[in-house]
Amino acid sequence: MAKTVVIFGSTTGNTEFAAGKIGSAFGEAELKAVSAKALEEAKEYDLLILGASTWGYGELQDDWVSVVKDLEKLDLKGKKVALFGTGDQSCYPDTFVDALGLLYEALKNSGAEFVGEWPTEGYEHSGSKAVKDGKFVGLALDENNQPDETEARIRAWVAQVKAQAGI
Ligand SMILES: Cc1cc2nc3c(=O)[nH]c(=O)nc-3n(C[C@H](O)[C@H](O)[C@H](O)COP(=O)(O)O)c2cc1C
Repeated sequence: MAKTVVIFGSTTGNTEFAAGKIGSAFGEAELKAVSAKALEEAKEYDLLILGASTWGYGELQDDWVSVVKDLEKLDLKGKKVALFGTGDQSCYPDTFVDALGLLYEALKNSGAEFVGEWPTEGYEHSGSKAVKDGKFVGLALDENNQPDETEARIRAWVAQVKAQAGI
């Protein structure tokens, strides 16, 4: 079993809620609120699942902002990384789940292998830094407008990530 950690930054609890659901779906994943220490310990895991909400206008959630420089310096060669993000596609259609894209940007030179890209079908938005080559770079969740979709999206995404990570 790949050693798995879910690291999240959450201001009003939505990303924390999703992190809990994702952790349970994995079975043996550890759950950590993001901090410099949590990132230092990231090297102990085979699969890192990182989640952030988007705040301001397309910005990373505050707890991630504090550690983004540490994130950019991580050496994750040999590790697999899956990303998820929460946002609000109705109020912020131009910056929907941008933080998901910002996490990807911060880690794209880390040497990690990204898994868990996700289709854009089923969402209505006009712009997102999280879309690369026509797909989200990770799981997009919208607790504000599509809370009923969250559970099924997480189930399908975790199954996909497990298959891609060979778990
Ligand atoms: C002031 C404010 C700014 C926000 N900006 C964005 C945004 O630019 N893009 C987006 O997708 N969601 C945006 N959101 C929505 C949050 O990302 C969403 O409510 C998320 O579920 C919050 O997760 P959290 O409770 O884990 O922090 C914003 C919400 C607020 C209140």
